[in-house]
Amino acid sequence: MSLHWLIAALIITNIGLAWYFNSLTGLPKIPPIQLHKSIGITVLLLSLARLAWRLTVPPPPLPDSVSGWQRIAAAAVYVLFYAVMIGMPLSGWALSSASAIIRFKPIILFGVVHWPTITPLADLPPAEMKQAHDGFTTVHQLLALLAYALIALHVAAALRHLLLLKDGVMGRMVPFLRAPAT
Ligand code: HEM
Repeated sequence: MSLHWLIAALIITNIGLAWYFNSLTGLPKIPPIQLHKSIGITVLLLSLARLAWRLTVPPPPLPDSVSGWQRIAAAAVYVLFYAVMIGMPLSGWALSSASAIIRFKPIILFGVVHWPTITPLADLPPAEMKQAHDGFTTVHQLLALLAYALIALHVAAALRHLLLLKDGVMGRMVPFLRAPAT
């Protein structure tokens, strides 16, 4: 539960930061981009921890009120969320590594911990580096569109369970909405 809310808050913050630095030009862009990289790598590490947790400790079963198609839809959304939680940071790390400025502005997590560059990308000749940078930027942008769609779907489904179905599904992630044990 803690990992769910922490990762959710970091992803929303990172999307907000991206919208913010996209509105800037020149040098003022650099500090928010560096913070965006630090938060994104943190999301990667937390998501890998969450995936390992999920694979070793199965989640509690869904209530019987959740029908067959809803279980399939929920499973599909979870898989796509993991693709976003891991794919966004990896594509961001790759596009940043395939950048001429990585040598002068390496990734230093929250200004403290040196994060490695993906060396084969940083060593590419200029034309190939630009091609790789543009390719990974496109992947990063497409995953951002997928993230927007998934977040909208996920929030709508959660509200449906909370307000219309009132079936206790929200209590799986919000302890104070959990029905008292009988
Ligand atoms: C939770 C993880 C992440 C999320 C949700 C995220 C989200 C985004 C979004 C929404 C954009 C704007 C895309 C657009 O212009 O349409 C963006 C751009 C960018 N992201 Fe991320 N990102 C994440 C992780 C990372 C990481 C780990 C790095 C680098 C280590 C990174 C580096 C960048 C850079 C450099 C840009 C600007 C790309 C450009 O337009 O030149 N991101 N990110």
